[in-house]
Amino acid sequence: MNEDFQAEIWIVDFGSQYTQLITRKTREIGYKSAIFTSESALELFAKGIRPKCIVLSGGPQSVFADNENYEDFFGEIPVLGICYGMQLMAKHFNGTVEKGIQGEYGQAELELVSEGFLKLNNYQVWMSHSDHVKDIPENFEMVLKSKNGICAGIQHKEKPYLGIQFHPEVNHTKDGNEYLKFFYEKIAKNLTKWESNQMMEDCTNFVGQHKGKKVLCAFSGGVDSLVAAILTQRVFGNDLYCFFVDHGLLRPQDLIHIRTLQKETSLNIEIIDAKEEFLSQLWGLDDPEEKRKRIGHIFIDTFEKKVHEFEDKRGISFDLLLQGTLYPDVIESISPHKKDGKSVTIKSHHNVGGLPERMKLELLEPFRFLFKDEVRTIGMELGLKKEWVYRHPFPGPGIGIRVLGKLTPERILAVQSSDQILYEELMSNDLYQSCWQAFTVCLPVKTVGVKGDYRAYEEVICLRMVGSVDGMTATWTEFPHEFLSKVSNRITNEVPGITRVVYDITSKPPGTIEWE
Ligand code: XMP
Repeated sequence: MNEDFQAEIWIVDFGSQYTQLITRKTREIGYKSAIFTSESALELFAKGIRPKCIVLSGGPQSVFADNENYEDFFGEIPVLGICYGMQLMAKHFNGTVEKGIQGEYGQAELELVSEGFLKLNNYQVWMSHSDHVKDIPENFEMVLKSKNGICAGIQHKEKPYLGIQFHPEVNHTKDGNEYLKFFYEKIAKNLTKWESNQMMEDCTNFVGQHKGKKVLCAFSGGVDSLVAAILTQRVFGNDLYCFFVDHGLLRPQDLIHIRTLQKETSLNIEIIDAKEEFLSQLWGLDDPEEKRKRIGHIFIDTFEKKVHEFEDKRGISFDLLLQGTLYPDVIESISPHKKDGKSVTIKSHHNVGGLPERMKLELLEPFRFLFKDEVRTIGMELGLKKEWVYRHPFPGPGIGIRVLGKLTPERILAVQSSDQILYEELMSNDLYQSCWQAFTVCLPVKTVGVKGDYRAYEEVICLRMVGSVDGMTATWTEFPHEFLSKVSNRITNEVPGITRVVYDITSKPPGTIEWE
């Protein structure tokens, strides 16, 4: 259950991968919202607890397969239905929804058909649906239609209900925030404004509720855990301890960074050398999900051992586990509807979910509802160095998920060495900040090449460089040819076992940023 039921805007999540973006865009416009499953929102409604307005999200299912009773949502409170939410609205008011045969995915240009609706220069939107509204319910009017005549927006003639078939929350929709603003300001009205500088205050207050306890931070040195630790340290001082696990799947730049943080911040950082434990249990593993899970389990074991050591040898026992978990991690790992959820799990992240219950550590996740760029803003406000705050993200399982196929010492070294070359070249050419993430991947294929006068039959390194705002969507970055050529030459010359370098030109979606 979402604890933030005092929020004025509730976003009812029907399982769309974009739901959290609605909260994000809502914050950008200057309003605070909270996400609820339909079950928990209905439970609160039954208890008489209501927000000022609700947004019904999209979802992967079809209204034909959903027999829940959502009547309570359509009372006096203003409702915005997005995609699936609009279809539920139409179905509820006895319109007809037609089952899609082909569906509509991607960019679409709409036409305005109602004078009273939002005026924009053009209506370029992002569609992602199969079913659509065929007959508009009584007392509603069509406000937008697609070029092929399909209804793309409906509004009630008297009541505060709006339904749109497309996704205003996705960046591909031009002026997407304007649709949300129209709903919040012209239809819902009188909502309380929220300033982005309240973000840091909210997070500090959240952490402050636990003052006096002992906090252990699962510290990776990445932006999220670093900002979380610095923010928490301001409240907890020396009651905060940071454990950094060296699992042997790090890049050369990672340990250097941790040592810098040990020197240049007042954080109490304990480096746990667990290379042996990890690597001895990972050799030969192949399946991506198996790798993630195994790394996650060993991580927990290592952590638990160290916690006991602290208790036994230093008499320190912890109450809270601080993690820099972000909103996208939460949504992509655990369906908001738990096991039988309506959203689809893309990948399991080992850094979500926390430690086993027997450790009796309560999770402290001040950024659970924030996006990476919002955490970066807080980091800068806290006075951290820009190069730390704008460091590229690095996944918890490290290069374990960048060595595709079998994990072997040679292949791990190939990724470490090639990544270092890419990193050095990005830095020396002042290109590091021109992408959101840049890394190398060792592919599970061998190709023929010539090295010197000899035939080589060796592996392939792929360069992956993407631009993104929050990791939820991404586009591959164009780099100068001379740069790519230099990186490629250095990798094939300097990294043993690699004869070929390729460049990934896939955006997300449909690809993910990482390869596994
Ligand atoms: P994908 O590959 O899902 O990645 O497009 C989105 C962002 O998340 C990072 N990532 C992870 N981070 N643990 C993490 O801490 C993980 O298991 C994990 N998997 C992906 C990825 O590097 C990118 O920034």
